[in-house]
Amino acid sequence: MITKQTIDQVFETARLEEVIGEFVQLKKAGSNFKGLSPFVDEKTPSFMVSPVKQIWKDFSTGKGGNVISFLMEHEHFSYPEAIRWLAKKYNIDIEETEQSDEQKQQINERESMFLVSKFAKDYFHDVLLNTQKGRAIGLSYFKERGFREDTIEKFDLGYCKDEWDNFTKTALDKGYDIKYLKSTGLTIVKEGGERDRMFDRFKGRVMFPIHSMSGRILGFGGRILTNDKKAAKYLNSPESDIYHKSKILYGIYQAKKEISKEDNCYLVEGYTDVISFHQSGIENVVASSGTALTPEQIRLVNRLTNNITVLFDGDAAGVRASLRGIDLILEQGMNVRVVAFPEGEDPDSFAKAHSDAELKAYLSENSQDFINFKVSLLLEEAKDDPVKKAGLIRDIVTSISKIPDGIQREVYLQECSRIMDISERVLFSELAQLLNKSGRSSEVTKKEPVLKPVKEKATKSKVDSLLLLEKEIIRILLLYGNEEVAFINWVHGQDKRGRPTLEKEEYMNTVSNELYLNLQEDEIEFSNDIFRVVYYEIIHQINQDEKISINRLVSNENPEVASAVTTILMDEEKYQLSDWTRKEIFVTETSKILPKLVTDAILNLRRVLIEKKLTTIVQEGLAMQEQANQEEGLGSETAEKKSPNELKEEVMNYLELKKLLYEKLSRVV
Ligand code: CTP
Ligand code: MN
Repeated sequence: MITKQTIDQVFETARLEEVIGEFVQLKKAGSNFKGLSPFVDEKTPSFMVSPVKQIWKDFSTGKGGNVISFLMEHEHFSYPEAIRWLAKKYNIDIEETEQSDEQKQQINERESMFLVSKFAKDYFHDVLLNTQKGRAIGLSYFKERGFREDTIEKFDLGYCKDEWDNFTKTALDKGYDIKYLKSTGLTIVKEGGERDRMFDRFKGRVMFPIHSMSGRILGFGGRILTNDKKAAKYLNSPESDIYHKSKILYGIYQAKKEISKEDNCYLVEGYTDVISFHQSGIENVVASSGTALTPEQIRLVNRLTNNITVLFDGDAAGVRASLRGIDLILEQGMNVRVVAFPEGEDPDSFAKAHSDAELKAYLSENSQDFINFKVSLLLEEAKDDPVKKAGLIRDIVTSISKIPDGIQREVYLQECSRIMDISERVLFSELAQLLNKSGRSSEVTKKEPVLKPVKEKATKSKVDSLLLLEKEIIRILLLYGNEEVAFINWVHGQDKRGRPTLEKEEYMNTVSNELYLNLQEDEIEFSNDIFRVVYYEIIHQINQDEKISINRLVSNENPEVASAVTTILMDEEKYQLSDWTRKEIFVTETSKILPKLVTDAILNLRRVLIEKKLTTIVQEGLAMQEQANQEEGLGSETAEKKSPNELKEEVMNYLELKKLLYEKLSRVV
């Protein structure tokens, strides 16, 4: 683990505008910088960087945060990867906490395997481009397949000479340990005889290095150059501590940026499919490398987008096999579309045979929703066979039952009922049965909302003012939470003659503490999910460090928290920019204005909550009356219902509270 000192040092040293400047062209705009969003294509800049606050905000996507979250969003680094990247940029030595010898050794072994893999990649690439044999055999093969030089660079393609141990020897000469050549599978060691014999695993093959999400080399695929039916067309690195076939997607490193930009990922089967698509200008594409898709692979894509488009080769067997994998994608809550290629074509051959525009048009015209695709495919098979059709219904409903979102499931069922001409009720009961089995039954039964919309409408305006107030409280906490100012308390007393008095009492408190104590006193919960999370995060910080750290909020693991916080902070920034005179005034009088700002916020929040409570009580009363009218003469009585008198009392209590509040509000003014 990286030590806290190193992390702190990285934070102190790193300049956000410098780091972002490496990826986005920034222009000065007042005290801020502006640029085009790196996350979407846009013509007018909506991306802002505040060097003062060291935060960034992308107004097109709502994303925002600090230097670390920028690297995590943009480069898709993990947290430690981002720290390491920054440490390298700013020449900071990374200190790590003590590890056990065993841990150390394990990390070192993996590190050594990464190192030798990187060496192999560089070596194969060099052989391909700079040796006579490499150019004559490997490079001319790639050229024949139509791969351009820039593509060969982009994918680090290479060639392993057709000699027994050319690579292994070179690696050993350079000081790499045979242990790691062996554990990565680059070298095959045959034991026995006088001494062990060593061979290059990928002898005579062109090389496709397989990158991790952050660009490290995990393994290789090597393609044979002949059409020898007896030899395997592709050889891959064996499973090892760094190469787990089921957790890797070929091309994810080269595709990640475009996947999040396009908010969609094309999934193909082969290495060459990925490469050809890039050459045709489509970069949001990854390959499962010919195996069935795994949940780990899907999660990899899910870090970048919620949408996946599966591309099928034009042969029926391939389609049937892939259908199963797709249920897995649905299960992860992702949206799946599919495109089938014409008989006998794979994405690679199709891309080669058509122009970039034609390929793009084909993809958009032929992409269809997965469920629809599956229905029409199976319907074709089942045709007029009723037994088959019954099986088909179950099959499709099974797919639908994998979708975690209830509303989406329902939409699909309706769609299916239409296409297959089967009543929705039949499909629903089938679905209910399936969900029952998986213990999710409750979700289908509560299907019809009866009075809900009406109720929501009635309280809508209150909800909005509530939201604004909650936002105001968060804003105050973010901007002034750590400041200590004098608050006023009004104390009831008596003068010498026993007449009631009201005395002003001043006390010092931090803004955050004052807000916290008041909200806690009334057990006020934030109604907005995000603001509630932000609030509790802030309280957690205060309890731990007695201070609010903006930095830790904008690097919060929940991106919605970071987004909400940066929105509030950046709004403030804009306001201050456009109205600097006000800012001047504000700065000088902060200590005077702050207590009022805080008290107002609390009192207003209470007022809105009381009003809201009153509305619900009144509504409750009305509903009761109505029910009483209906049930007249039936003599039915429900135990936990409030009597009219109780209701009335409650209303009176709240009205009293409201009166008190208005008094207080005017007093503070
Ligand atoms: N594959 C493999 N081992 C094999 C055959 C295939 O690992 N013996 C994997 C490779 O990742 C390959 C993918 O399955 O890219 C798809 O196989 P296939 O369609 O046969 O190969 P293509 O990608 O079409 O390769 P090429 O165009 O070079 O024939
Ligand atoms: Mn192919």
